Amino acid sequence: MSAADLIQRLDIDLVSALDETERRQVLQACDRLKAKLETPMDTTARLVFSSHQAMAVRLGIDMKLFDAMAKASKLAEEPFNVQDWCEETGSDPLLVRRITRFLAAMGVIQEIDGDSYTQTPLAAAYVSSSPLSAAVIHSTHFLTVLSRLPEYFHVNGWKSPGDGLDGPFQFALGADGHYFDFLSTHPYYSQAFNTVMGMSFRRRGRDWFEVFPVEERLRVSSSSDPLIVDVGGGQGEDLKKFQEHFSDLPGKLVLQDLPAVIEGVKDLSGIEVQSHDFFQKQPVQDAKVYFLRTVLHDWPDKQAIQILGNLRDAMSRESILLISEIMQPESGVPLPSVLSDMQMMGSFASLERTQAQWQTLLKAAGFELVQVWLSDRSPISQAEQPALLEARVSESTI
Ligand SMILES: C[S@@+](CC[C@H](N)C(=O)[O-])C[C@H]1O[C@@H](n2cnc3c(N)ncnc32)[C@H](O)[C@@H]1O
Repeated sequence: MSAADLIQRLDIDLVSALDETERRQVLQACDRLKAKLETPMDTTARLVFSSHQAMAVRLGIDMKLFDAMAKASKLAEEPFNVQDWCEETGSDPLLVRRITRFLAAMGVIQEIDGDSYTQTPLAAAYVSSSPLSAAVIHSTHFLTVLSRLPEYFHVNGWKSPGDGLDGPFQFALGADGHYFDFLSTHPYYSQAFNTVMGMSFRRRGRDWFEVFPVEERLRVSSSSDPLIVDVGGGQGEDLKKFQEHFSDLPGKLVLQDLPAVIEGVKDLSGIEVQSHDFFQKQPVQDAKVYFLRTVLHDWPDKQAIQILGNLRDAMSRESILLISEIMQPESGVPLPSVLSDMQMMGSFASLERTQAQWQTLLKAAGFELVQVWLSDRSPISQAEQPALLEARVSESTI
C-alpha cells in the first residue's frame, strides 16, 4: 500500500461508528503506527514539548481566554479577535497573541487569520467551570514537583521516597506538611483536585459492588448498625452510587474525609457525613465494611500502616476491609499505571503497589489478605482498572 493510500484510509470518517472498545483499539493501533513512523528525534521532540502544550492550555484557562470565547460565541458565531480578548480579560495584547497562536497551532482554537479565531469543541471544554480544566490545573501544578525530581534525588540519594511528610513535594515547594495540608490552604488547587477525584475517567470499568457479592456478604442486623464507612471518601461519589444500587439494604452509610473536603459535599441525603482525620482514632466502631478507594496509594508504607492501624483497632472479627486500587502487575505495566505511580512518588512519596507489596503492607498493619476481586467483564485492561482487595484483621492481632 502506498503512503497516499494509507493516509486516505486513515482519513475515512469511522470515528462516529466506533464503540468504546473499538475506539480504544484504534487509538492503540495509531500509537503503534506512530512508534514505527517516528525517528528518535521526533519522539524526543514530542516528549519534551508536551509539557509546554499543557502549560499553554493552563495559561489559556487562567487568563480566562476560553471563558471569554465561550461567552461571545453564545451571542454570535463571528470570529473572536485579540482585541476582544484583551477587553474581556484585561490581558496584554502581545501575551494574548502569543498564547492564542500557540493554542491555534495545537488545534485547540481555529485560526481565521493572524488576529482572529473561532471556537472548537475542545476550546469549549476548557471553560473554567469544566472538569477538564480542573484536570489541566491539577496536572500542570504537578509539573512543579516533576521538574525538581532530579535535584531531589541528587540531594537525597537515589532511593525511592518513603515519607509522605518529607519527599519530592516538600522539596519542590519548600512546603511543610503533607500535600493534603497544602490543599487545605490553597482552594484553587483543592477545588481542582476534588473535581478530578469525581471525574468519570477515574471510575472506568465495573464498580466494586458489581464485583463483590454485596447482598450475600454485607448484612447487618439493624438499620442503625454501620454498614459501610468510606474512609477518605472524597465528596461521596462512591457511597452515592452504592446507595442508588442497594437502596433497600439495611445499615448506615458513613462518609469521612477532611473538613475542607466535607464542606463541599452536596446532595447526600441518607448518608452520614463526618469530618474525620484518619490518623486519629476511628469514631465508627465495628462497621461491616471499612472502604478505602484510592486512598492508600497516596501514602507510603510508613503512614499507610498508621491509617490501617486505626481501622484495625475499630474492627471486629466480622468487619471487612475493602481496598479499591489499581494493582500494578509484576510485568507489562501499562502506561497509565506507571504515570500514576510517578504522580504518587512526586506528590506523596508513595507508590502504586503490586499484589505482593499490598500483601506486605497489610501484614505489617495486622491484616490478612483474604481475596483479590477482579473485574472480568470490561473492555479496558485489567491493569488499568481497580482491583478490590478484601482483608480481615489477622487472627494473631485479635
Ligand atoms: C485520592 S482521594 C480519593 C477520594 C475518594 N476515595 C475517591 O476515590 O474518589 C484521597 C482522599 O483522601 C482524603 N484524605 C487525605 N488525608 C486525609 C486524612 N488525614 N483524613 C481523612 N481523609 C484524608 C483526601 O481529602 C481525599 O479526598
